[in-house]
Amino acid sequence: MTHTLRALTPSDAAAAAALHALAFADPWSEASFAAQFADPAALTLGHVEEGTLIAFALFREVAGEADLLTVATHPDRRSQGLARALLIALTQTLAARGVARMTLDVAEDNAAARQLYTSLGFTEDGRRPRYYTAGGAVPVDAVLMSMRLQG
Ligand SMILES: CC(C)(COP(=O)(O)OP(=O)(O)OC[C@H]1O[C@@H](n2cnc3c(N)ncnc32)[C@H](O)[C@@H]1OP(=O)(O)O)[C@@H](O)C(=O)NCCC(=O)NCCS
Repeated sequence: MTHTLRALTPSDAAAAAALHALAFADPWSEASFAAQFADPAALTLGHVEEGTLIAFALFREVAGEADLLTVATHPDRRSQGLARALLIALTQTLAARGVARMTLDVAEDNAAARQLYTSLGFTEDGRRPRYYTAGGAVPVDAVLMSMRLQG
């Protein structure tokens, strides 16, 4: 079985959008992924198995910092260390580029993601009350997290 870890390009946009739709109530479009993957400020990494995208993560670098825009693992492939491997590899790349700090926000009720980020060394900076309203559900706070990479 072939398993590669590689950067994503606009030709991966349809696969990323399909995977995103399995992971989020308010998925991004193929066009928005195509634009992100073509943007030099974006840093991406995906697990591709037998030609199928099974997990990916996307950071955007701005002014010496990198914001995690999204990370998703196919529902059938969770809890196998795929997201952890992506974020560790991307952290190493960002540190090597001299990025000083990584930031992200995560829904307060997303226990799996919060546990993942905390285990990697992210700490909580604050909250945006009732920030997430996807799916028409009760609004959920955004937890703001960050991790310093140097200095
Ligand atoms: C969050 C998500 C990306 C994790 O992907 P994954 O590939 O299953 O994660 P990993 O297997 O690499 O797990 C890494 C760590 O995350 C945490 N974790 C993962 N799934 C968990 C769960 N169901 N419950 C609690 N912690 C969990 C654990 O700390 C785990 O480390 P461990 O296996 O050593 O205990 C995945 O659940 C997902 O796609 N969720 C939907 C999209 C989403 O919420 N993205 C994040 C938005 S901010």
